[in-house]
Amino acid sequence: MFGSNNEHMNNIKSYVAQHKERFLNELIELLKIPSISADSAYKNDILKAADIVKSSLEKAGCNTVELCKTPGNPIIFGEHIIDKNLPTILVYGHYDVQPADPIDLWDSAPFEPIIKKTKIHPEGAIFARGSCDDKGQMYMHIKAFELMIQNDSLPCNVKFMIEGEEEIGSTSLDWFVKRNQEKLSNDVILISDTGMISNSQPSITTGLRGLSYVEVEVTGPNRDLHSGIYGGAIANPINILAKMIASLHDENNRITIPGFYDKVIDATDEERKKMAEAPFSLEDYKKALDIEEVYGEEGYSTNERNSIRPTLDVNGIWGGYIGEGAKTVIAGKAYAKISMRLVPDQDPDEITEIFEKHFNSIAPKAVKVKVTPHHGGHPYVTPIDNIGYKAANKAYSETFGVEAIPQRGGGSIPIVALFEQELKSKTILMGFGLDSDAIHSPNEHFGVFNFLKGIETIPLFYKYYTDLFKEQ
Ligand code: BES
Ligand code: MN
Ligand code: MN
Repeated sequence: MFGSNNEHMNNIKSYVAQHKERFLNELIELLKIPSISADSAYKNDILKAADIVKSSLEKAGCNTVELCKTPGNPIIFGEHIIDKNLPTILVYGHYDVQPADPIDLWDSAPFEPIIKKTKIHPEGAIFARGSCDDKGQMYMHIKAFELMIQNDSLPCNVKFMIEGEEEIGSTSLDWFVKRNQEKLSNDVILISDTGMISNSQPSITTGLRGLSYVEVEVTGPNRDLHSGIYGGAIANPINILAKMIASLHDENNRITIPGFYDKVIDATDEERKKMAEAPFSLEDYKKALDIEEVYGEEGYSTNERNSIRPTLDVNGIWGGYIGEGAKTVIAGKAYAKISMRLVPDQDPDEITEIFEKHFNSIAPKAVKVKVTPHHGGHPYVTPIDNIGYKAANKAYSETFGVEAIPQRGGGSIPIVALFEQELKSKTILMGFGLDSDAIHSPNEHFGVFNFLKGIETIPLFYKYYTDLFKEQ
């Protein structure tokens, strides 16, 4: 089936070189569909995107592909089993995307993909919502699979599970996984839905943060009031909410909720030393964001703050008059959406509970407080002494010419912890995006280089994983 390593690599490279225009055009068609899971107005587009994923897997050569109905958005499940004695890789990705707003801040329409050169992506990047998170990265897997089928070099079994609710908490996937353990059985899970350090320095994400997400409502008087007639004499819910939120961090930017840090497993000095060795320029970081100074928990570096430390952030805050001009009013209610990113071994339900208790306890009697939990997720860490990590590292080393650096990620893919719990397998996070690709933001993009490198690197993972699997 394979010749030498070199020949194998050349076959991969020549297939990609020959078909790259078509790969890009196919991805562009998928990116045109506004499959926004957060907004029910886009239900039809969700179904359209699911159909495209299904037919792409069929065309790429999967034995069977099913569109699996769930209580929510459909899950596409495809498989290609060549030999029961060979290992099985389960590829996960998502076809849903974040809402595109604020639309005005996009330089081109979010669902009219265009390729433009940037400083970081001199070979061009595809600008569109979902280009990097996650349609572009998910599509690399379908094209890598097509390549292995066409080159007759698929070394093992593969299953694909592509969902449409990742951006809203994967509720239906949770439901699906719990009901389909046998169908989903695998030796390793492979996901490209994270990032890497830079286009010259690949990294493998070895951890994800968990999430607790709450909405708070502070109620003062039973109606909006004239801020002159009543001002000064009653609690203004917006003033109170602001004060309560401000008190959630102390002067060292540590979170003040009692018990919040109790279960945090501190990184060892050795881990921290390793982290500090990863290439990183604080100057470039600040420059890219146009900020004078970084800000965060005392005693930790920027890369520690955004990966191995838990956080609490207000994601939105509203209430009162925000229209044109000045209206003198004290609003009856104020609201905020608050996320807490969690690290091992913090438990999202416990954190939500202690948040609620604390938030109620700090509210003055003059207001009422309501805390409503949203979706959450457990944090995840994976060791690097397993064949999945080793195979990924070998694959990156070959396509990038340098070894990958293990790196804990700051974002969350809550379903990964569930996979471990229900399917008993480890996940390898082979991301090809960059932090600067603006996922969830206006002008999201994904480098053409990254897309094509991903398609070249994935088949090598399959090969090395299968080799190492046979050796063990
Ligand atoms: N792909 C991201 C997660 C991510 C991005 C992890 C970059 C690490 C690096 C995923 O689509 C996402 O946005 N997850 C959400 C959580 C979800 C429950 C809405 C997140 O992290 O905010
Ligand atoms: Mn994603
Ligand atoms: Mn996302």
